[in-house]
Amino acid sequence: MTIHSKTSAGLDGVVAAATALSHVDGERGELIIGGARVGDLAGRVPFEALTGRLWSLAGSATVAETEARRLLGVARARTFERLPAILSAAEGLPVAAGFRAGVAALGPVSGLPDEAVLVGAMPVIATALVRRSRGEAPVAPHPALGHAADTLRMLRGLPGGETEARALDAYLVTASDHGMNASTFTARVVASTQADLFMAVTAAYCALTGPLHGGAPGPVLDMLDAIGTRGNIAAWVDAALARKERLMGFGHRVYRVRDPRADVLREAVSWLGRTRRDLGLAAAVEAHAREALRRAKPDRPLDTNVEFYTAILLEALEIPREAFTPIFAVARAAGWTAHAIEQQRTGRLLRPDSVYLGEVPG
Ligand code: ACO
Repeated sequence: MTIHSKTSAGLDGVVAAATALSHVDGERGELIIGGARVGDLAGRVPFEALTGRLWSLAGSATVAETEARRLLGVARARTFERLPAILSAAEGLPVAAGFRAGVAALGPVSGLPDEAVLVGAMPVIATALVRRSRGEAPVAPHPALGHAADTLRMLRGLPGGETEARALDAYLVTASDHGMNASTFTARVVASTQADLFMAVTAAYCALTGPLHGGAPGPVLDMLDAIGTRGNIAAWVDAALARKERLMGFGHRVYRVRDPRADVLREAVSWLGRTRRDLGLAAAVEAHAREALRRAKPDRPLDTNVEFYTAILLEALEIPREAFTPIFAVARAAGWTAHAIEQQRTGRLLRPDSVYLGEVPG
């Protein structure tokens, strides 16, 4: 028996779905979400409007901005009512793992579409876990606020400034969807079995947590901390590359040029007017890392990805680094739910093939 087939270990270039939701052009460095370029969305179109647009494109129903805002506000409030049960599932776990348990504890809520329950629940669970880790009681949501403003309020116990809410909203919009990334693909695989959206989103979050995907921003700050001073940049970066380590916040499977989200988020950082971090040092690290990667991998363009400025922005918003991946999920839940709905509507089970490398009995 001859076994022959072309495999791509990372499924590079394999088209796994047809979608109306988002498009990544890796050669041109372009990201389209819900029919608009990411640079035209962030800071201009609120997260609620984009989420409603994604759900509408996925074909659940037409959901206008005001309705999406209402649904998410109600969902936050309903999640808070169930918070003791949700948090008990996360007992004893650190924030990012507790978030997995919390999301897994969600289920249908009467009068709300499942997608709204899921997207609305995310910041309630994330902020309550952060507060619990500090020994603080959770803060009840304010359903009339925007999703970003309420996230900051629930985190801190005090309302954030308007500019801060706008910057977090820009992050949520920028990270809301991104083609067939690993977590979205996971959501679609689960949804393709006609499992419900709660199953699909729980699985998607698990896929998000790894450092090759949504787990990178915390390590970006660890890297900047370890470098510490301008004089140490070259030695630290070059030694990491010599040890064959990956520089967090650089490189991408699809982009062959700079990730367009990096510039959008760098601009959002500038709105804040202050950060805890030396931005000059961060820019110098970025410049040296890009140059060192060009030297180390001349045949493989590796540039700044979304996570570098995500880390700096979320830190400036006083979000602790152990919550970065759950906050990423607050944003990406919009895309995950829309993709799960879109996939379910195709009615087609995702079931690829494999190449057998084992013994063949005679
Ligand atoms: N630092 C150093 N070397 C790198 C980096 C990096 N950041 N990224 C890729 N390389 C190297 C690889 O080790 C590989 O080297 P080799 O040929 O000697 O084995 C070569 O460049 C080619 O890499 P690919 O295999 O084409 O990269 P891949 O598509 O698998 O990786 C990924 C994409 C996972 C994002 C990678 O660039 C990486 O690990 N980056 C660091 C982690 C990170 O920033 N993750 C967040 C990604 S954005 C997101 O998911 C939201």
